Amino acid sequence: RAPDEIAGALLNWFDVHGRHDLPWQHPRTAYRVWVAEIMLQQTQVTTVIGYFNAFMARFPDIETLADAPSDDVMAHWAGLGYYARARNLHAAARAVVAEQGGVMPRDVDGLMALPGIGRSTAGAIVAQAYGDWAPILDGNAKRVVARLAAVEATPGTAAYEKPLWQLAERYTPRERVTDYTQAIMDLGATLCTRRRPACERCPLADCCVARAEGIQDRIPTPRKR
Ligand code: ADE
Repeated sequence: RAPDEIAGALLNWFDVHGRHDLPWQHPRTAYRVWVAEIMLQQTQVTTVIGYFNAFMARFPDIETLADAPSDDVMAHWAGLGYYARARNLHAAARAVVAEQGGVMPRDVDGLMALPGIGRSTAGAIVAQAYGDWAPILDGNAKRVVARLAAVEATPGTAAYEKPLWQLAERYTPRERVTDYTQAIMDLGATLCTRRRPACERCPLADCCVARAEGIQDRIPTPRKR
Protein backbone atom coordinates (compact mmCIF):
# COMPACT_ATOMS: atom_id res chain seq x y z
CA ARG A 1 0.00 0.00 0.00
CA ALA A 2 1.16 3.50 -0.76
CA PRO A 3 2.15 5.51 2.35
CA ASP A 4 -0.37 8.25 1.56
CA GLU A 5 -3.21 5.70 1.51
CA ILE A 6 -2.13 4.47 4.92
CA ALA A 7 -1.97 8.02 6.30
CA GLY A 8 -5.33 8.86 4.73
CA ALA A 9 -7.07 5.82 6.23
CA LEU A 10 -5.54 6.54 9.63
CA LEU A 11 -6.56 10.21 9.55
CA ASN A 12 -10.15 9.32 8.61
CA TRP A 13 -10.25 6.96 11.57
CA PHE A 14 -8.71 9.61 13.84
CA ASP A 15 -11.37 12.17 12.92
CA VAL A 16 -14.03 9.86 14.36
CA HIS A 17 -12.25 7.74 16.97
CA GLY A 18 -9.06 9.59 17.95
CA ARG A 19 -8.40 11.58 21.11
CA HIS A 20 -9.11 15.25 20.52
CA ASP A 21 -9.41 16.69 23.99
CA LEU A 22 -6.27 15.77 25.83
CA PRO A 23 -5.23 18.73 28.02
CA TRP A 24 -1.90 19.22 26.21
CA GLN A 25 -3.79 19.66 22.93
CA HIS A 26 -5.47 22.87 24.17
CA PRO A 27 -3.41 24.93 23.82
CA ARG A 28 -0.62 23.05 22.12
CA THR A 29 2.60 24.76 23.07
CA ALA A 30 6.07 23.25 22.93
CA TYR A 31 6.31 23.45 26.72
CA ARG A 32 3.01 21.66 27.31
CA VAL A 33 3.59 18.97 24.67
CA TRP A 34 7.07 18.41 26.09
CA VAL A 35 5.91 17.97 29.70
CA ALA A 36 3.09 15.65 28.56
CA GLU A 37 5.38 13.50 26.43
CA ILE A 38 7.87 13.09 29.28
CA MET A 39 5.06 12.03 31.64
CA LEU A 40 3.67 9.68 28.98
CA GLN A 41 6.95 7.84 28.50
CA GLN A 42 6.22 5.41 31.31
CA THR A 43 2.72 6.33 32.41
CA GLN A 44 -0.71 5.85 30.83
CA VAL A 45 -2.77 8.73 29.49
CA THR A 46 -5.57 8.41 32.06
CA THR A 47 -3.08 8.72 34.93
CA VAL A 48 -1.05 11.46 33.26
CA ILE A 49 -4.01 13.84 32.79
CA GLY A 50 -4.37 14.67 36.50
CA TYR A 51 -0.64 15.06 37.06
CA PHE A 52 -0.32 17.16 33.94
CA ASN A 53 -3.07 19.57 35.02
CA ALA A 54 -1.60 19.96 38.50
CA PHE A 55 1.87 20.47 37.08
CA MET A 56 0.64 23.17 34.71
CA ALA A 57 -1.27 24.92 37.48
CA ARG A 58 1.95 25.18 39.52
CA PHE A 59 4.45 25.61 36.63
CA PRO A 60 2.45 27.30 33.84
CA ASP A 61 5.48 28.18 31.73
CA ILE A 62 9.09 27.27 31.28
CA GLU A 63 10.37 30.28 33.28
CA THR A 64 8.30 29.28 36.32
CA LEU A 65 9.64 25.74 36.08
CA ALA A 66 13.22 26.93 35.69
CA ASP A 67 12.92 29.20 38.74
CA ALA A 68 11.29 26.60 40.98
CA PRO A 69 13.28 24.77 43.68
CA SER A 70 13.90 21.16 42.77
CA ASP A 71 12.00 19.90 45.84
CA ASP A 72 8.90 21.54 44.48
CA VAL A 73 9.31 19.96 41.05
CA MET A 74 9.91 16.56 42.64
CA ALA A 75 6.84 16.95 44.84
CA HIS A 76 4.70 17.45 41.72
CA TRP A 77 6.23 14.33 40.19
CA ALA A 78 5.56 12.16 43.28
CA GLY A 79 3.48 9.20 42.17
CA LEU A 80 4.66 9.20 38.57
CA GLY A 81 7.94 7.46 39.41
CA TYR A 82 11.06 7.37 37.26
CA TYR A 83 12.31 10.55 38.91
CA ALA A 84 15.21 10.97 36.51
CA ARG A 85 12.57 12.26 34.11
CA ALA A 86 11.69 15.13 36.45
CA ARG A 87 15.34 15.97 37.10
CA ASN A 88 16.03 16.06 33.35
CA LEU A 89 12.94 18.15 32.70
CA HIS A 90 14.00 20.67 35.32
CA ALA A 91 17.61 20.79 34.05
CA ALA A 92 16.40 21.24 30.47
CA ALA A 93 14.03 24.08 31.47
CA ARG A 94 16.91 25.83 33.26
CA ALA A 95 19.15 25.41 30.20
CA VAL A 96 16.52 26.77 27.79
CA VAL A 97 15.86 29.79 30.03
CA ALA A 98 19.54 30.48 30.72
CA GLU A 99 20.84 29.89 27.21
CA GLN A 100 17.99 30.42 24.73
CA GLY A 101 15.94 33.14 26.37
CA GLY A 102 13.26 30.64 27.34
CA VAL A 103 12.51 29.69 23.73
CA MET A 104 12.48 25.94 23.08
CA PRO A 105 14.50 24.74 20.09
CA ARG A 106 12.52 24.55 16.88
CA ASP A 107 13.96 21.38 15.35
CA VAL A 108 14.51 17.74 16.27
CA ASP A 109 18.30 18.00 16.65
CA GLY A 110 18.12 21.07 18.87
CA LEU A 111 15.48 19.44 21.06
CA MET A 112 17.46 16.19 21.32
CA ALA A 113 20.41 18.14 22.69
CA LEU A 114 18.36 18.80 25.86
CA PRO A 115 18.46 16.34 28.78
CA GLY A 116 15.74 13.70 28.66
CA ILE A 117 14.48 14.45 25.13
CA GLY A 118 14.87 11.50 22.78
CA ARG A 119 14.04 11.27 19.12
CA SER A 120 10.36 10.47 19.55
CA THR A 121 9.71 13.18 22.13
CA ALA A 122 11.52 15.67 19.91
CA GLY A 123 9.39 14.54 16.96
CA ALA A 124 6.20 14.91 19.00
CA ILE A 125 7.10 18.48 19.96
CA VAL A 126 7.98 19.44 16.37
CA ALA A 127 4.88 17.79 14.86
CA GLN A 128 2.35 18.61 17.57
CA ALA A 129 3.44 22.02 18.83
CA TYR A 130 5.01 23.53 15.72
CA GLY A 131 3.06 21.60 13.07
CA ASP A 132 6.28 20.89 11.17
CA TRP A 133 7.04 17.53 9.63
CA ALA A 134 8.68 15.02 11.97
CA PRO A 135 8.11 11.32 12.58
CA ILE A 136 7.34 10.03 16.07
CA LEU A 137 7.82 6.51 17.33
CA ASP A 138 6.73 6.03 20.92
CA GLY A 139 5.98 2.54 22.21
CA ASN A 140 2.48 2.50 20.76
CA ALA A 141 3.45 3.78 17.33
CA LYS A 142 6.32 1.30 17.21
CA ARG A 143 3.96 -1.62 17.61
CA VAL A 144 1.66 -0.31 14.84
CA VAL A 145 4.51 0.14 12.38
CA ALA A 146 6.16 -3.19 13.29
CA ARG A 147 2.89 -4.99 12.56
CA LEU A 148 2.08 -3.05 9.39
CA ALA A 149 5.40 -4.12 7.90
CA ALA A 150 5.78 -7.40 9.85
CA VAL A 151 9.14 -6.45 11.38
CA GLU A 152 10.03 -9.52 13.40
CA ALA A 153 13.39 -8.45 14.88
CA THR A 154 13.74 -8.28 18.67
CA PRO A 155 12.67 -4.94 20.21
CA GLY A 156 15.59 -2.89 21.49
CA THR A 157 17.97 -4.13 18.79
CA ALA A 158 19.19 -2.05 15.85
CA ALA A 159 17.55 -4.59 13.53
CA TYR A 160 14.22 -3.52 15.01
CA GLU A 161 14.71 0.21 15.67
CA LYS A 162 16.36 1.17 12.40
CA PRO A 163 13.76 -0.14 9.94
CA LEU A 164 10.97 1.17 12.16
CA TRP A 165 12.32 4.72 12.02
CA GLN A 166 12.70 4.43 8.25
CA LEU A 167 9.10 3.23 7.96
CA ALA A 168 7.88 5.95 10.33
CA GLU A 169 9.51 8.55 8.08
CA ARG A 170 7.92 7.03 5.00
CA TYR A 171 4.41 6.85 6.48
CA THR A 172 4.39 10.33 8.06
CA PRO A 173 2.49 12.61 5.65
CA ARG A 174 3.39 16.18 4.73
CA GLU A 175 -0.19 17.28 5.40
CA ARG A 176 -1.86 17.08 8.81
CA VAL A 177 1.28 15.89 10.55
CA THR A 178 -0.03 17.00 13.96
CA ASP A 179 -3.12 14.81 13.64
CA TYR A 180 -1.22 11.96 12.05
CA THR A 181 1.23 11.67 14.95
CA GLN A 182 -1.61 11.70 17.47
CA ALA A 183 -3.55 9.20 15.34
CA ILE A 184 -0.84 6.57 15.21
CA MET A 185 -0.30 6.78 18.99
CA ASP A 186 -4.07 6.54 19.56
CA LEU A 187 -4.40 3.53 17.24
CA GLY A 188 -1.61 1.75 19.12
CA ALA A 189 -3.11 2.60 22.50
CA THR A 190 -6.71 1.64 21.67
CA LEU A 191 -6.91 -0.99 18.86
CA CYS A 192 -3.41 -2.18 17.97
CA THR A 193 -2.78 -3.26 21.53
CA ARG A 194 -0.02 -5.57 22.63
CA ARG A 195 -2.38 -8.42 23.42
CA ARG A 196 -5.48 -9.28 21.40
CA PRO A 197 -5.42 -6.39 18.91
CA ALA A 198 -8.86 -5.41 17.57
CA CYS A 199 -8.00 -5.95 13.90
CA GLU A 200 -11.66 -6.19 12.91
CA ARG A 201 -12.09 -2.50 13.80
CA CYS A 202 -8.70 -1.32 12.51
CA PRO A 203 -8.63 1.13 9.59
CA LEU A 204 -5.31 -0.36 8.48
CA ALA A 205 -6.27 -4.04 8.66
CA ASP A 206 -6.21 -4.48 4.90
CA CYS A 207 -2.69 -3.02 4.58
CA CYS A 208 -1.22 -4.88 7.55
CA VAL A 209 1.33 -7.55 6.63
CA ALA A 210 1.31 -9.11 10.12
CA ARG A 211 -2.45 -9.48 9.93
CA ALA A 212 -2.27 -10.98 6.41
CA GLU A 213 0.20 -13.52 7.74
CA GLY A 214 -1.75 -14.07 10.96
CA ILE A 215 1.25 -13.17 13.12
CA GLN A 216 0.01 -9.93 14.71
CA ASP A 217 -0.01 -11.62 18.15
CA ARG A 218 3.69 -12.43 17.82
CA ILE A 219 4.84 -8.92 16.90
CA PRO A 220 6.57 -7.35 18.68
CA THR A 221 8.43 -10.52 19.60
CA PRO A 222 9.08 -10.83 23.34
CA ARG A 223 12.42 -9.40 24.43
CA LYS A 224 15.06 -12.07 25.02
CA ARG A 225 16.00 -12.27 28.69
N1 ADE B 1 1.73 8.46 24.39
C1 ADE B 1 2.80 9.20 24.15
N2 ADE B 1 2.46 10.40 23.64
C2 ADE B 1 1.12 10.42 23.60
C3 ADE B 1 0.16 11.37 23.21
N3 ADE B 1 0.52 12.57 22.75
N4 ADE B 1 -1.11 11.05 23.29
C4 ADE B 1 -1.47 9.84 23.75
N5 ADE B 1 -0.64 8.90 24.13
C5 ADE B 1 0.65 9.19 24.07
